[in-house]
Amino acid sequence: MDLIPTLLPSHLKSATLEDIETLLALDGDCFTKLWSRDHYLREIESPNSDILIFHQPESHRPVAYGCVWAIVDEAHITILGTHPDHQRRGYARQVLAGLLQLAIVRQLKQATLEVRASNEGALALYSSFGFEVAGRRKKYYSDNREDALILWRSGLDRGFDPWQTCRQ
Ligand SMILES: CC(C)(COP(=O)(O)OP(=O)(O)OC[C@H]1O[C@@H](n2cnc3c(N)ncnc32)[C@H](O)[C@@H]1OP(=O)(O)O)[C@@H](O)C(=O)NCCC(=O)NCCS
Repeated sequence: MDLIPTLLPSHLKSATLEDIETLLALDGDCFTKLWSRDHYLREIESPNSDILIFHQPESHRPVAYGCVWAIVDEAHITILGTHPDHQRRGYARQVLAGLLQLAIVRQLKQATLEVRASNEGALALYSSFGFEVAGRRKKYYSDNREDALILWRSGLDRGFDPWQTCRQ
């Protein structure tokens, strides 16, 4: 999106084709290969998808990232990860705030995502942004047949400030 550079802090950057190796490295570190190279290339080129990469302010190293799809008036958060060596420093919080900021610019009204039922850290993060559990997909994940929780956050178009949780 053209508005990205003026909307986001300088350490959050929109991914371009030049970032493909960075994305694959982050994917391997955060998820042990969730998406393929072709998948990331499709996301970068899609007009309905935004990928943000967080660069650690001190080292400028890329250490966290996330992706959001715009579908009708919904923001679907499809991936969010922080390198294991850099977790619990508020980086995913900033990526999520950036993704939701972009969703607001696109005038999307609500956000949704799926998360493993056992992923307490991610659930705490999403909850701090006002996401609520709205459903459960039984045995959704093929690796361990774990349930997925479906989370929604409505009211993106009603004065929601995604950066507020980063300031607390
Ligand atoms: C979930 C994940 C993205 C969080 O990244 P992060 O950069 O460490 O998160 P942040 O530092 O921004 O944490 C923000 C808040 O989330 C919650 N949180 C994050 N990780 C947590 C953990 N391991 N245990 C408990 N709460 C946690 C806390 O409330 C935290 O705030 P606090 O540190 O002030 O207590 C990261 O653990 C990760 O990449 N996990 C593997 C991939 C994954 O599960 N992605 C989510 C899929 S939906």
